[in-house]
Amino acid sequence: MQAGPPDPAGTEEATVFLGGHWRRPLKPNGPVPAGLSDAEASLAPEACGGCHPEQLADWKGALHSRAMGPGLLGQLQVMGAQSREDHAACLQCHAPLAEQAEHLVQSLTAGVALPPSANGASSAHGLTCAGCHVRGHIRYGPPRREGKTSGAEPPLPHGGWQVTKAFSDAKFCSACHQFEAGGHSLNGKPLENTYEEWRSSRHAREGRTCQSCHMPDRRHLWRGIHDPAMTRSGLTIATRIETDGGRIRAELTLTNTGVGHAFPTYVTPRVLVEIGQEDSDGKPIEATLERHLIARDVSLDLTRENADSRLMPDETRRYRYDRPRVGDAQALLFRVRVYPDAFYADFYRALLNDPDYGKGHGTLRAALEQAEASAYALFEERRPFGARYGAGGAPR
Ligand code: HEC
Ligand code: HEC
Ligand code: HEC
Ligand code: HEC
Ligand code: HEC
Repeated sequence: MQAGPPDPAGTEEATVFLGGHWRRPLKPNGPVPAGLSDAEASLAPEACGGCHPEQLADWKGALHSRAMGPGLLGQLQVMGAQSREDHAACLQCHAPLAEQAEHLVQSLTAGVALPPSANGASSAHGLTCAGCHVRGHIRYGPPRREGKTSGAEPPLPHGGWQVTKAFSDAKFCSACHQFEAGGHSLNGKPLENTYEEWRSSRHAREGRTCQSCHMPDRRHLWRGIHDPAMTRSGLTIATRIETDGGRIRAELTLTNTGVGHAFPTYVTPRVLVEIGQEDSDGKPIEATLERHLIARDVSLDLTRENADSRLMPDETRRYRYDRPRVGDAQALLFRVRVYPDAFYADFYRALLNDPDYGKGHGTLRAALEQAEASAYALFEERRPFGARYGAGGAPR
């Protein structure tokens, strides 16, 4: 039998399995089955990493391991130590284990970040190995890849594991990267719509799953918009310029050639395209700068969508520039800057300026710094104009 591309709606096996696997709030793992060593019983990522060092190293570099950052913690502090239901609304994606929810209540009550509990769980760990792989102390994972074995002899560690293709299905990720029908929507689109954007793209039809781009060779990397090289890999950018007497006609085209969903998929990043003239010191001349925003721009209280200028898969956008060359302009600058956490930065600034907002200021200030520090230049190009009207000096 010829295996076709995976069903973009998710296979039936995946749908059934994931319905149970991600029924939240997750149940506590319960008593440790007889025969498991302390390392095998532990929910701590470091315990898994003792035997799975590659996954641990990759995970530590990924945002999933930092899903309980200061921005989230500041907001949880404000909710109050015992507000379990309010916590759950965030923890279900940011730190989903029941044992982590319990640890958070204890830490907030104590007013300090406690060390991990005896079972190895900590609310500070974010989205852990066990959060994706362990239910009731049983390990779940994808089918073994052909030709790959560790050579481990039975009895296998942690009592073996249960195999399901659901781990290799894009639907696995939709538990947290897609709002369900009926969830919060703006302008007819769910606030989080990544899985559906992917499903209607060429990538889904051609069998390119979330995992194939974000977990190449099953690596636990999950690089996204915070990673300049990853973002560059998804886009094709071209520029063109004509100088005609005193006029500059230019164009920057940007095509979403390799992002498996909208660029960017979330309401939180902002991408700024700038075209403008530079003076002889290489400084942009403000009056000549044209700026274009690529974003799903929503109000801070998430009640309004102001604009949606994102690029869907395979979409091309042309930014034209047609202006007179000003006095001392020497070059035309094309620049694309990415602000992965622009929405959060605005949100933290608003909270810090709110006189009614008492708690969590120190944490929020740290969150603001982190959000501002993630900005980077995705693309930058200078095109010198050369000599003007036969003036002295060689063209640059
Ligand atoms: C004492 C060592 C040990 C510990 C601790 C351990 N594992 Fe394993 N695990 C193994 C070995 C060995 C295998 C078998 C690998 C093989 O033969 O392919 C395995 C297999 C797996 C598999 C299936 C891999 C596949 O090929 O599909 C998953 C998933 C898994 N472990 C997850 C975890 C998680 C999550 C934790 C922590 C909560 C953990 N393991 C802790 C040793 C360990
Ligand atoms: C239990 C919920 C959950 C699941 C399941 C999940 N994620 Fe995530 N993911 C998150 C959260 C929460 C963040 C944000 C972490 C942070 O920055 O605080 C995130 C961040 C990411 C990022 C980084 C985005 C950036 O801004 O750079 C990528 C990429 C990603 N996830 C891909 C995936 C893929 C692919 C899968 C499926 C294999 C998946 N995730 C499954 C919750 C989840
Ligand atoms: C449906 C899953 C989901 C739920 C529920 C959720 N988040 Fe997130 N959150 C995400 C994902 C995915 C990202 C990553 C977005 C990105 O990096 O592009 C994220 C990112 C964040 C960030 C920025 C990154 C960081 O860690 O500082 C903050 C702050 C945040 N969420 C706060 C919250 C709060 C507060 C709640 C509860 C009111 C909440 N989230 C509920 C999925 C979720
Ligand atoms: C966001 C969910 C998520 C988290 C967190 C996560 N994994 Fe995985 N893991 C997956 C998925 C999905 C696959 C299968 C990928 C595929 O099929 O392409 C996988 C595959 C594996 C495999 C099989 C690897 C292979 O080469 O066959 C092991 C072992 C494993 N994970 C262990 C871990 C360990 C250890 C951690 C923590 C350090 C961890 N995982 C964290 C989702 C996760
Ligand atoms: C064809 C490759 C490809 C596929 C398939 C793909 N992505 Fe991405 N993804 C990217 C690239 C490239 C980026 C970085 C550019 C960007 O942020 O749009 C990215 C960014 C992200 C981000 C960062 C947040 C943001 O606002 O952009 C998240 C979260 C994410 N992907 C999740 C997913 C999930 C979940 C799926 C499956 C439903 C998926 N991706 C499928 C290539 C892919």
